Amino acid sequence: MAFVTRQFVRSVSSSSTASATAKKIVIKHVAVIGGGLMGAGIAQVAAATGHTVVLVDQAEDILAKSKKGIEESLKKIAKKKFAENPQAGSEFVEKTLSNISTNTDAASVVHSMDLVVEAIVENLKVKNELFKRLDKFASEHTIFASNTSSLQITSIANATTRQDRFAGLHFFNPVPMMKLVEDTPGFIVNRLLVPYLMEAVRLYERGDASKEDIDIAMKLGAGYPMGPFELLDYVGLDTTKFIMDGWHEMDTQNPLFQPSQSVNKMVAEKKLGKKTGEGFYKYK
Ligand code: CAA
Ligand code: NAD
Repeated sequence: MAFVTRQFVRSVSSSSTASATAKKIVIKHVAVIGGGLMGAGIAQVAAATGHTVVLVDQAEDILAKSKKGIEESLKKIAKKKFAENPQAGSEFVEKTLSNISTNTDAASVVHSMDLVVEAIVENLKVKNELFKRLDKFASEHTIFASNTSSLQITSIANATTRQDRFAGLHFFNPVPMMKLVEDTPGFIVNRLLVPYLMEAVRLYERGDASKEDIDIAMKLGAGYPMGPFELLDYVGLDTTKFIMDGWHEMDTQNPLFQPSQSVNKMVAEKKLGKKTGEGFYKYK
């Protein structure tokens, strides 16, 4: 497992199972597919650590929003990191932003990339379709990685011809602040975190406590920075639902993997949390 503190994957050892020859690949050019909550953060940390980054999403307006978010985040970081030297802070922001370009066509950019990190919707079919297409256009040496929260990396990699150059790189939200990246099979955090979040929803659905009280209790009693409902809204209720649906499909009897009616209803109503302005709570 890699514990990465606001650094980025600088080099990756790629070994061919056929030849068992380990090859060191230096990562310089990175494409991030999906410019939402996670993709924007991944692009930011990659650019801040000196990589050239192409951030890809489906439409220009989404990418404009992603870049604005990255700039705001960088300014917050610069304010702290360069408190004594605002000029150096501005240069850091400018330099990092200049490392990021945007594009709406992933297939047209991947040929010159060392690493492609995917951060699109948590859906195996959609991820498979994307990687199958990119596999045809990417260079031989290009490493693919998925930021999936819950899917098996092999089931995503199977859509490609590069299973030996396919990784799980699981970043955490908000990427610029969170110090962990998991790259081990069977990610740990979500296996514990998501059932906890869903148990909080069940507690609330049963009427045992209000969401506000549950949030306060976990912050004051367990020292968590956010309560479960704040975190559900922060992660995105759609992402949480997709994680739960996938696990439920694999193990229908597991009580920890039962879908939630309230979460499903909110997703159907497009109340996805902070990113859409409303989830369990409302946001300006
Ligand atoms: N970029 C840069 N700086 C940021 C930032 C960002 N995106 N988000 C927050 N900050 C900074 C703020 O500017 C603030 O800086 P100052 O101390 O200088 O004021 C600092 O971080 C603290 O922020 P806040 O005061 O706003 O709030 P906070 O103390 O609650 O911290 C938080 C915010 C870091 C997000 C914290 O609440 C936290 O750690 N929450 C839990 C997040 C978590 O559990 N993430 C995992 C989600 S699960 C997942 O990611 C996996 C999955 O697959 C679903
Ligand atoms: P999001 O909804 O914020 O962003 C997804 C982005 O992908 C959207 O901007 C969408 O337009 C774009 N997209 C969808 N299909 C695309 C395609 N074919 N080509 C290009 N762009 C496409 O979602 P997110 O929260 O950033 O999650 C992305 C991935 O990261 C998911 O697999 C999720 O499980 C995982 N993840 C999420 C979190 C979290 O806290 N939200 C944490 C870790 C991992």
